[in-house]
Amino acid sequence: MAKLTTNYMGLELKNPIIIGASNLTTKAENAKKLEEAGAGALVYKSLFEEELELDALKLSQELDEYNERHAEMINLFPSVEHAGPDEYISDLEEVVKAVNIPVFASINAIKKTIWVEYGKKIAETGVAGIELNLYHVPTDMESTATEVEDQQIEIVKALKSNLNIPIAVKISPYYSNVLNFIQKLDEAGADAIVMFNRLFQPEINIETETNEYPDNLSNSDDKKLAIRFAALSYGNIKAQIIATNGIHYGTDAIKVILAGADAVQIVSTVYNSGFAAIKNMVKDLESWMNRKEYNTIDEFKGKLSRKKSKDPYAYRRAQYIDILLNSEEIFKFNPQR
Ligand SMILES: Cc1cc2nc3c(=O)[nH]c(=O)nc-3n(C[C@H](O)[C@H](O)[C@H](O)COP(=O)(O)O)c2cc1C
Repeated sequence: MAKLTTNYMGLELKNPIIIGASNLTTKAENAKKLEEAGAGALVYKSLFEEELELDALKLSQELDEYNERHAEMINLFPSVEHAGPDEYISDLEEVVKAVNIPVFASINAIKKTIWVEYGKKIAETGVAGIELNLYHVPTDMESTATEVEDQQIEIVKALKSNLNIPIAVKISPYYSNVLNFIQKLDEAGADAIVMFNRLFQPEINIETETNEYPDNLSNSDDKKLAIRFAALSYGNIKAQIIATNGIHYGTDAIKVILAGADAVQIVSTVYNSGFAAIKNMVKDLESWMNRKEYNTIDEFKGKLSRKKSKDPYAYRRAQYIDILLNSEEIFKFNPQR
């Protein structure tokens, strides 16, 4: 009988299916249902740096600026009536108390200074760890890749040296050499790398000629990015590897674990299919392991990573060139259509 338990940042999870940071995890009653459906752990949604800045402004004399930022915040978080760090912490505490599975907090930090203090407050809620969400979208032409990366590494170091709980770092894939950045995060002491965040991309309505921001849920094909970089990272870093973005089915979870992931985070599939998505994922993972006679997750984790794969060209440039050179066989195009 397959055992689905897995170790995540020093804790034993009953299975490797984690509900990713999102609005799914913010209410205690939902959190309980996610747990009942079989989730191994939850990540509470991010506390954003803008929320902390707003709170700091509220206490300062710069009330004009506060009003402006407040208006912007209402725009950013229309459904959150009292967006703010204190509310975040008390709501988080409720979720931690409501479930028996580990709950991780998430913080979206851009500058290092303010986070250590809030990190300490968050750690006191009883969370199992903190996920640092490095959601960053460049909007200026000046800052260099090194500046952006150095600033992010500094935040990881500051949190690691001031907090006594595990720190996972969630990154986007948009770095010049994401593997080098993963290595730097590993050296800075990150306990896990969550690959990859899904950045909300803008859309344009050509009739109204306005910008739109659609919901941007993933599809199962999106997981291929995590397959590649989990496979390239496996065996090269101490940090654990968490795959996210496009894990919709049990088969997707199996694939990223074969590539080298320790666990997966899911959000879109739960939005699409409800709690059944979790139940089915756990069931399908278990029945595949039984069919393949794997007793534990460790027995197949990383089997198709670059380190362990029997295909010498797997995940290399040669594989890409091979696909392009043989594209007539792989991509069927019918010129009669
Ligand atoms: C409605 C919604 C809210 C989200 N909020 C957060 C958040 O607060 N912090 C974060 O790091 N990621 C957030 N995400 C991103 C998810 O955690 C996840 O990384 C992304 O959706 C990719 O996983 P998926 O393919 O399973 O959806 C959010 C996603 C959605 C759809």
